[in-house]
Amino acid sequence: MKPIQIAPSVLPVDFSRLGEAICELDQAGVDLIQWDVMDGQFVPNLTFGPDIIASTRSLTKLQFEAHLMVLTPEAMASRYVEAGCSRLIVHAEACANLRHTLEVINDLGAASAVALNPETPASAVCDVLDLVDLILVMTVRPGFGGQKYIQTMEPKIAEVRQMISSANLDDKVNVEVDGGISAETVSGAAKSGANILIAGSALFRDPKGLTHAVQQIRETATSAFNSR
Ligand code: DX5
Repeated sequence: MKPIQIAPSVLPVDFSRLGEAICELDQAGVDLIQWDVMDGQFVPNLTFGPDIIASTRSLTKLQFEAHLMVLTPEAMASRYVEAGCSRLIVHAEACANLRHTLEVINDLGAASAVALNPETPASAVCDVLDLVDLILVMTVRPGFGGQKYIQTMEPKIAEVRQMISSANLDDKVNVEVDGGISAETVSGAAKSGANILIAGSALFRDPKGLTHAVQQIRETATSAFNSR
């Protein structure tokens, strides 16, 4: 089973100092960086093109993953890999042929992953576990940070973890959650089987700073995950 990993969403940072923010997140002890890529069509928001991500690639050795909240992930996949993302997360809801899209990403030399919106059942990914290294269960509606954690997603997190365990893929496939994750909500997600936790606003609103916020979420998640 993969260890617990804490990853920030870059969405809430002050974009006027994006480079410094990436360095501060690295110094705060996060395990990887998640870029929330939005096209203004799949979700009503517009964020990072590949060139923005590429401009920060040399600032840290941390893995970059792109959460592609876009209608046509295949069309942009190679640009995000070239920009330095080694994992691309596509939405099951945006892929007419999910397997093919994942194979395109794998053929680019990146790890592929699938995100499920709150209304999409876990069964949407049961046929692609052999291709991915991560399933992302959204615990908010995609598009914006600062939303409330949807606790009723926890049975779906557990169902995805169970599918992975039943296929003996726990060492290969991670369960990630994203949306409303904080020291208060992370234990429910981790106890349900999530081992990669995406946090945005909770990291930046901690009065004791980023390092404290990362540490608190990591400790809470680790004890909850290990208590399963
Ligand atoms: C939604 C985004 C957010 C972001 C994290 O599309 O994916 O979930 O990463 O936002 P917080 O942690 O502020 O809820």
